Amino acid sequence: MKKTLKALILLTVILSLFLQGCKKDDSDGSAGKDHPTVSNQVQNYHSSMEYAYTTAVDESILKTGLSADYLILANKENALGESYAPAELVTLTCPTNYGKTVELNRRAAEALYLMLAEMNASGVTDISVTSGYRSYQKQTALFNQYLSEESALITENAIACFGMDYIQKNYISKGLTVLSAKDAREVVLSYSALPGTSEHQTGLCVDFITSTMSDLDITFATTPAFAWLSNNAYRFGFILRYPEGKENITGYTYEPWHYRFVGREAATDIHFGKITLEEYLAD
Ligand code: DAL
Ligand code: ZN
Repeated sequence: MKKTLKALILLTVILSLFLQGCKKDDSDGSAGKDHPTVSNQVQNYHSSMEYAYTTAVDESILKTGLSADYLILANKENALGESYAPAELVTLTCPTNYGKTVELNRRAAEALYLMLAEMNASGVTDISVTSGYRSYQKQTALFNQYLSEESALITENAIACFGMDYIQKNYISKGLTVLSAKDAREVVLSYSALPGTSEHQTGLCVDFITSTMSDLDITFATTPAFAWLSNNAYRFGFILRYPEGKENITGYTYEPWHYRFVGREAATDIHFGKITLEEYLAD
């Protein structure tokens, strides 16, 4: 009995020393850094969650710190330009859509593998990557393809972009069945980046797809994969880049399938702060 009590006390002392050590590591990790501020509540959440998730995943791979390498902003106001080439591209070895070749930044790829492994282990297995790095040239081809599609008929994208009243007044009531070149371009710009401004050119983001989808569309938001990502992606350094309701900030319509690697520290603040990368970097 006495022996058991001694052992228990010893265990408690060791455990509390260990926990103190962990806490110190956390504060050392963020102290003195130019850490964009979010509310105290979010910061506290961040600290408590950090301990919880470090036990589940490979710390050395996921702990990037607040690295400018992973916080590159590519949007309508911040172009990368034609000559921008991302660092350290690797070919993904995780499941891709019909086995296509997809490239990604090495660090983002390692975090992605850990994330998919944990997702699979939790029972969510229907998911694959359908795009990652896209060159300026590839984005040009894609943008032009969308432009010809939106110029050929009035699509749901056009109705979503302008609203039915506008389409009725300016097209249907006049017997017109195709958009003007100006309107077609505006529709494309609501969901596709001009070459040189796409985040895909950074090699830091992926588009996910499931077997229930024939193309990237809003139904991804109804999948178990999306539900899992919504709760867990930040732990691996990924954020939902184009959330619903933030279109006026990101410049793009809701894309439930598009995830951007920013590093776990930034992703945690963005997730719990319910903010976009634009808001995080402007803070
Ligand atoms: N769909 C995103 C906005 C892109 O084209 O990069
Ligand atoms: Zn995307």
